[in-house]
Amino acid sequence: MREGDLAAFGEITATSYYEVDARTYQRAWPDPVRRPPGRNGAWLNRARAALDTDPGGCWVAEVDGEVVGGAVSRVRELMWILASFAVLPQHQGRGIGTQLMAAAMHHGRGCLRGMFAASADPGAVRRYRLAGFDLHPQMLLMGVVDRSEIPVVDRVREGAAGDIDLLNSVDRQTRGAAHLSDHELLLAQFRLVVTDHTTGAGYAYVDDDGAPTLLAATNRRTAAKLMWEALASSRPGEQVSVHHITAANAWALDVGLAARLAIHQSGFLCVRQMKPPTPYLHHGSLL
Ligand SMILES: CC(C)(COP(=O)(O)OP(=O)(O)OC[C@H]1O[C@@H](n2cnc3c(N)ncnc32)[C@H](O)[C@@H]1OP(=O)(O)O)[C@@H](O)C(=O)NCCC(=O)NCCS
Repeated sequence: MREGDLAAFGEITATSYYEVDARTYQRAWPDPVRRPPGRNGAWLNRARAALDTDPGGCWVAEVDGEVVGGAVSRVRELMWILASFAVLPQHQGRGIGTQLMAAAMHHGRGCLRGMFAASADPGAVRRYRLAGFDLHPQMLLMGVVDRSEIPVVDRVREGAAGDIDLLNSVDRQTRGAAHLSDHELLLAQFRLVVTDHTTGAGYAYVDDDGAPTLLAATNRRTAAKLMWEALASSRPGEQVSVHHITAANAWALDVGLAARLAIHQSGFLCVRQMKPPTPYLHHGSLL
């Protein structure tokens, strides 16, 4: 993959992910939307950064000189992470994805552990299991936060770039590999909240809707506190969705139920040579 391929591959991921969502979403859920233009910038920034740090992990497939698919992957410490993987719907099922996956996995050949979030696409899930990954179903919480249930959260403060060493240390204790420069990307896009106390340390990146998009902590009580801090910033009366909750993170389900959110299920966390991290809510592409 080269810089000039990014825009085309960005469009392919938006089209292919939307097509999967339209095919697999549940009727009670809000209708899926194609990646809104407002989020394209963040996708491009992440992919461009991966091209810089991990050129050997980023690949495109061409048919008659036209980009029809690609894969973006990273190595962080001793962990291989697949961020984006898509082939245009009309070119799927012909073995292109298998070749892209092999090229991206070659980038992680020195890594014991691997991790990524999978859509509910049966073809994608087939590829991942055949590549040797364990599949852990992901739950999500959806609804409007009952504000009368929000507890007082103490010892949580706003975070900044000066906290990155602390964040990397919590990453190593929870997922077994630090995010390193990916924290800069996350900081540019989300609000960061941090807690660092003798009773526990942790952090959460919180999106505009009040959902924690990445949360890691050294114990469950601290993780729950950070999740409450995020939910408290949701807009009164508006829907919030907290994604990527594995069964290993039942503490997050308990916070969600207390806030009167409903539990649903979608997709898988795929891991190799490791258990699903906990207490931890993974980011969809930076994990
Ligand atoms: C996942 C994806 C990149 C794979 O690319 P691809 O070019 O279709 O991959 P391949 O053709 O090499 O392999 C797909 C496999 O799934 C199988 N498959 C396709 N549709 C399937 C279905 N509905 N049920 C079961 N298996 C299916 C194919 O037969 C093939 O398996 P085989 O090679 O053992 O026969 C592509 O399907 C895609 O873009 N999907 C939508 C986006 C997405 O979900 N991306 C993953 C995000 S985590």
